[in-house]
Amino acid sequence: MARETSLFSGSPSELVGRQIASYRIEQEIGRGGMAVVYRARDLRLDRTVALKLLAPELARNDTFRNRFSHESRVAAALDHPHIVPVFEAGETDGVLYIAMRYVAGSDLRHLLDRQGPLPLPTALRIAAQVASALDAAHEHGLVHRDVKPGNILVSRGTDSDHPEHVYLTDFGLTKKSLSLTGFTTVGQFVGTLDYVAPEQISGRPVDGRCDVYGFACVVYESLTGHPPFRRDDDMALLWAHQYDAPPALTECRPELPSGLDGVFTKGLAKSPDDRHDSCLAFVAGLRSAATGGHAPTEVAFGPVAPEETRPKLPPRWAEPMFRGG
Ligand SMILES: Nc1ncnc2c1ncn2[C@@H]1O[C@H](COP(=O)(O)OP(=O)(O)OP(=O)(O)O)[C@@H](O)[C@H]1O
Ligand SMILES: [Mg+2]
Repeated sequence: MARETSLFSGSPSELVGRQIASYRIEQEIGRGGMAVVYRARDLRLDRTVALKLLAPELARNDTFRNRFSHESRVAAALDHPHIVPVFEAGETDGVLYIAMRYVAGSDLRHLLDRQGPLPLPTALRIAAQVASALDAAHEHGLVHRDVKPGNILVSRGTDSDHPEHVYLTDFGLTKKSLSLTGFTTVGQFVGTLDYVAPEQISGRPVDGRCDVYGFACVVYESLTGHPPFRRDDDMALLWAHQYDAPPALTECRPELPSGLDGVFTKGLAKSPDDRHDSCLAFVAGLRSAATGGHAPTEVAFGPVAPEETRPKLPPRWAEPMFRGG
């Protein structure tokens, strides 16, 4: 027992150089509420990976454990350019771990904290990539449940037409649905409630449309610098997700086309039935509103509007915006 605790909560320097399963830990990348992520060396294949060690308490929660094993299998089977490939998921000394591709760059949380709201074209480029990943997952019957900026990794793209390449990560790894339906004890860290859909809060069954809601919250934040609902405490925030209308995007960004507001109203609808059917449909709506109602013919990648209808681009649009590489 002492050993499993030290695996997770040991200071970063204690774990550096140690071997966990067939991975040698090189450096801590970051930590969230329920996991620590390290850069590590896969000793079998001699390559760099990101190794995520989940908090031991999660390994003891049967609901989480069952979902972890099921969903990491499904996620590992997803072969998509915008989903972080999972190499292995397993357990060692009572600690669940996931080895996945190491993505050099930043996550959207850090990017927004550093740069503030993104220019519309940048936000749409990132959104389109995330949307294609989410829709692909939904087609495989997998609901992400925890779409948020911290789970969107942004790395350098291939060229100036594609300045960033975006990956979605952490499928099914949220504690939210456990805690919100009463599986965890009061006071435990649940993670951010900024992106949680009304049906997740009330414990109703969720499907891909709960990700449409979380995704719409993330895109809203990309454009304004803050999520749609800001309240002083968690209860008020949960109430707002369920009953309050989100403030119009253009209250915060009056220079953006007003047609965007209606698209967010739909993406953030309280009832899943009133939302877009897919994340790409939501992005298509945004693109259409961004170009003054000219429906794009292609929604997933690349420029879609005729040159003359495109909004004037800020100079930093095509500039790389991540740390290192
Ligand atoms: N495959 C990866 N490659 C590189 N960095 C990663 C990878 N996966 C996660 N990270 C980084 O590791 C850090 C911690 O991730 P983690 O998922 O534990 O926390 P989070 O998503 O920010 O929060 P939460 O615990 O609420 O999910 C983040 O800064 C993230 O950018
Ligand atoms: Mg994460």
